[in-house]
Amino acid sequence: MHSFKYIDGKLHCEDVRVEKIALEIGTPFYLYSYQTIFNHYNSFKRALKEIDPLICYAYKANSNMAICKIFAKAGGGAEVVSGGELAQALKSGVSPDKIVFSGNGKTEKEICFALKSNILMFDVDSQAELRLLNKVAHSLGKNAKVVLRVNPDLNPQTHSYLATGLKKSKFGFGFDQALDGYKLARDLENIKIAGIHMHIGSQITSLDPFVEGLDKIIFLMGELKKIGIEIEYINVGGGLGIVYLDEEPPSLENYAQVITSKLLKLKVKVICEPGRVLMGNAGILVSRVLYRKETAEKTFVIVDAGMNDFLRPAFYQAHHEIKPVRQKEEKEKEVVDIVGPICESADFFARDREFPKVKEGELLSIFGAGAYGFSMASNYNFRCRPAEILVSGEDYFVIRKRETYEDLVKNEKMPDILEI
Ligand code: LLP
Repeated sequence: MHSFKYIDGKLHCEDVRVEKIALEIGTPFYLYSYQTIFNHYNSFKRALKEIDPLICYAYKANSNMAICKIFAKAGGGAEVVSGGELAQALKSGVSPDKIVFSGNGKTEKEICFALKSNILMFDVDSQAELRLLNKVAHSLGKNAKVVLRVNPDLNPQTHSYLATGLKKSKFGFGFDQALDGYKLARDLENIKIAGIHMHIGSQITSLDPFVEGLDKIIFLMGELKKIGIEIEYINVGGGLGIVYLDEEPPSLENYAQVITSKLLKLKVKVICEPGRVLMGNAGILVSRVLYRKETAEKTFVIVDAGMNDFLRPAFYQAHHEIKPVRQKEEKEKEVVDIVGPICESADFFARDREFPKVKEGELLSIFGAGAYGFSMASNYNFRCRPAEILVSGEDYFVIRKRETYEDLVKNEKMPDILEI
């Protein structure tokens, strides 16, 4: 369900005309629907109501403070992977006892910050991290609650960059090394074992990998029990896929049914870390056509957003639906490449795509850009990152200003030798 629809041939986000925003704030910009985000969160919660998990929204999907606050106000927690995301979660009003800290490369400074903030727990990724965490916790006179991220060694059937549960992946404890990890955790004085964590990948469109992963985790839970280690929490990670084109991801209900049927009887507390499924289809990127260009081989539609603004097509060859903001009446179509202004051949949003014939100056919207859109944007080519807008009903709010040339240089310093 999302709230981007055409009314009288004009694309609206909820009750606001996209063209109106473009005229008032310029392009490119990200545009999010409050209602969609809120509905996605509540649908997720409702589907899993029997198990009543702590829903820790994955900040990496979109860490704008207004977005984070929507989830915080709805009662959600946060899954963070850096000191920056942790600071953002705290500023967004997430209660520390609803924050989990994942990632395979936490620094001592970040660990210290998290311990001092009294977060709920750490998703620990290696023995080395366990030792450092223990040392820092000891020095602060605190105990660190942990779940060990276990790599269940399975194929999540997604893009290779988005698979994290394979044996060769850099993430987590190998399945056959997990017991040793838990024994170490038990021996470390300032570490308190809370449970098991898995996150097998992202944009997963089949239930099988979740079933396989959960079965392995449950098996491990049994092995741990045999050596006297009780599991209080199971964190099932995120990863549920969405529709970008013609994917058929499991419904929330079917996903919830798998988790509920596997975990309810175990009487454990469950944590989920959804990102994409909450935010992906709640946002679009709006861009204006700058030029058309015909070469011997192709027709290019050159827009004012680039791969620095939205990386997914260039980085993962991801397909995103693109539509003119003003619906085209005429049936005329052409095959085009829709590209940005960046000096890279990978700077494309669509290749060889059949598309309604658009003119210079028209607005295009790139769908499915709410998750891993702005959060992966950069200043490459020394470009200002775009504005972010949130719509609620008939109102829109700038939730991040477009960057300025001053923003681009605000951290730069001129050494004395060049001052003359
Ligand atoms: N938990 C952990 C530990 C994660 O690493 C991730 C995502 C999530 C939860 C949330 O996963 P989700 O529900 O969003 O699938 N940039 C890529 C996606 C990378 C996902 C990384 N980890 C993309 O644009 O597709």
